Amino acid sequence: MAQQSRKTLGDLGLDMFDPEAIANPHHFYARLREEAPIIWSEQNKAWVLSRYEDVRRVLRNPEQFSSRLLGSEESELIGRTDIVLETVAPTGTLSMVSADRPDHTRLRKLVSMDFTPNKLERMRPRIQSITDELLRGVSGREQFDIAHELAEPLPVTVIAELLGIPSELGAQFKRWSDAATAPVPPDATDEMVLARNAQIIEFRTYLQAQIKDRHANLTDDFIGRLVAAHDEEDKLTDDEVLAGVELLLIGGNETTTNLISNAVLALARFPDRQAELREHPELIDAAIEEFLRYDGSIQFTLREVTQPTEFYGQIVEAGENVVILLASANRDAGVFKDPDTLDFHRPKAKHLGFGDWIHICLGQFLARIETRAALLGVLQEYPQFELAIPEEEIIYRSNFNFRGPSYLPIRLSA
Ligand code: HEM
Repeated sequence: MAQQSRKTLGDLGLDMFDPEAIANPHHFYARLREEAPIIWSEQNKAWVLSRYEDVRRVLRNPEQFSSRLLGSEESELIGRTDIVLETVAPTGTLSMVSADRPDHTRLRKLVSMDFTPNKLERMRPRIQSITDELLRGVSGREQFDIAHELAEPLPVTVIAELLGIPSELGAQFKRWSDAATAPVPPDATDEMVLARNAQIIEFRTYLQAQIKDRHANLTDDFIGRLVAAHDEEDKLTDDEVLAGVELLLIGGNETTTNLISNAVLALARFPDRQAELREHPELIDAAIEEFLRYDGSIQFTLREVTQPTEFYGQIVEAGENVVILLASANRDAGVFKDPDTLDFHRPKAKHLGFGDWIHICLGQFLARIETRAALLGVLQEYPQFELAIPEEEIIYRSNFNFRGPSYLPIRLSA
């Protein structure tokens, strides 16, 4: 196979690190689906797939497409700034997102006990009161920044409580969490990388002490239950407990933050949809699914091919990697009619915003509860809102994969 003849993203003039592509990747995806449904990305050292049927095929065949890449050192190279759920787990330790069967089944089963819809339902009142408190802080103000004042603090507070991190450590926990989730820009200096790593090491040391503590003194929180699962059945090592906790922290934070911000941005852009949702709050659940489809907060994930596989005549060899563009699949006109329209009345077709199959997002029910509370709260607090800055001034996080605005002021419309 002639390596030189590979068509690349660069040939199409597409650059995943370009701020414009980050701010609006959808015409970029449309071109890929149309012109190059499989294409090589030199930046990612991987094949890129953009059509719904191909993305779903990869997700649904975990034996043929392994997740181990997500936990390997190689994943640091593949998009240093844009790795999905970039793991900070100690080298060699599996977390479920990077595990294949049978390890995946064991790890997911043990971690999933706190994430069933029933268990999470009990957290709804607490999530509501955290949301109410955040909104009280901005009440009566003419404008407020959705990103910093609501979408960021809500998930981080919820996850800290779920893990059993004391509230007085809130600010410190936020710094650790920022360090663990923030992308490392391609031009980061060594000092920046070292400062980030120092925070991660500090967090890990704190968690290790917590885990040790739980062995002596079991508590009824998430860490306590994971430690107990280890003690009774010898199923999780301390490193696996640590990797599981870190994965939740990373998976559960910026993703939900960005979904809330992207949804508010869409409602500011489309006042008719905003009015519709205000008049018909019973549409909120359908609206959240549509926000996940229309402008979800994870653009892609990665897999390693385990056996030669063909896409459109192109053989992808065992050991090569594929980037699967979830956000592009969600705009595929073959599956979603008028895919670029925000529509809360779509017939049920499965979006891939939470992935699919064995690795489907463990935190999806939690993310939905948080997003629901946040959106209904904003709609109530601001009887009609609009962007408080021109569109061009919205600043996106410098991360192609975890896409969302880092500053999003809204204000009451005239
Ligand atoms: C809007 C918010 C969220 C989005 C868009 C999102 C998206 C995703 C996606 C696409 C995957 C699949 C990755 C893959 O197959 O490679 C995933 C997996 C995962 N997510 Fe989420 N997520 C969100 C919120 C959360 C929350 C709140 C938590 C936990 C508190 C969480 C925890 C996880 C975990 C543990 C996995 C790994 C599951 C497995 O490998 O079996 N996520 N998420």
